[in-house]
Amino acid sequence: MLNLDERIKLIEAEIKSFVESSTSTAAAEEFRLKFLSKKGAVSALFDEFRNAGPEEKKQYGKALNQLKQLAEAFYKEKSASEQNSAAIPAGQPDLSLPVPPDPTGNLHPLNLIKYRIIEIFEQLGFNVEDGPEVEDDWHNFSALNFPENHPAREMQDTFFVEKNPDILLRTHTSNVQIRLMEKQKPPVRSIMPGRVYRNEAISARAHCFFHQVEGLYVDKKVSFADLKQTLYHFARKMFGPDTKIRFRPSFFPFTEPSAEIDISCLICKGKGCNVCKHSGWVEIAGSGMVHPNVLKNSGVDPEQFTGFAFGMGIERITMLCFGVNDLRLFSENDVRFLRQFRSVF
Ligand code: DAH
Repeated sequence: MLNLDERIKLIEAEIKSFVESSTSTAAAEEFRLKFLSKKGAVSALFDEFRNAGPEEKKQYGKALNQLKQLAEAFYKEKSASEQNSAAIPAGQPDLSLPVPPDPTGNLHPLNLIKYRIIEIFEQLGFNVEDGPEVEDDWHNFSALNFPENHPAREMQDTFFVEKNPDILLRTHTSNVQIRLMEKQKPPVRSIMPGRVYRNEAISARAHCFFHQVEGLYVDKKVSFADLKQTLYHFARKMFGPDTKIRFRPSFFPFTEPSAEIDISCLICKGKGCNVCKHSGWVEIAGSGMVHPNVLKNSGVDPEQFTGFAFGMGIERITMLCFGVNDLRLFSENDVRFLRQFRSVF
């Protein structure tokens, strides 16, 4: 058996090699158990020392005390550095750090406006319908009374997926008017939000895709007065009670008569500014009485029923409501832009 002196040296060597080699995050506790606890190696030496003769005590007392001090100093150092979390091995997460805040997200501004539009029309008894974005020529153009050689069918306006028979990305949400009347006979009172596509160069004011909300009301004795009052009500709810609305004669193949709908400019309150091109008015939608050919093409008798329709651009309305001046911001997914639209209604 080794004598006390040799054992002291051995334990001292063990302590040093433990400290040099330990990488574990729980090393201080492991060290304490191994050397300093009641059953630890240093304490065991002290037990032995207590039973030693006076000669031995004189000889080894100092060395043993130094060993204990060394062990305690290492332990102190080890546990202090662990508390500073320096003991976390590279590449491993520090689970003691506070959890980063997890803020709730918000709806995209276009969705905020879309849901607001839906809400207003739902209060008037309109339901929400959906239709395909990849569409055939019939539902996007022909059934809507577009003449055979209408310029909107040309390659420069429309993304064709297939030719002969023509399949394309819908250029407007008006295709859903046809699909709806094919499956449901009047009364029809629906709005149809969705994405549409046009072959346009991307700029601050135009994009190859954007969003519309289509509206359709077909029943017996629906008149232009109904169209006017419905959209007047919408404009005041959407843009505020002082909003003025104007119907400007226009042309669409699928409505007769047709009108463009303008509201008094929200930015300058009608005085004239850059947004309204100094006219005091901003266009928000196209509208009109549904053309008899469109009703016929969808299997509805134009002698019995009349209807009005409208189509508005969601981007345009969102830009007006929030003062956004570049269309591209809506599809760039920059959170610095998107997070500004929390709880606006
Ligand atoms: N579809 C037209 C467009 O994209 C908008 C439109 C005008 C829709 C008149 C309608 C309407 O329902 O009656 O420019």
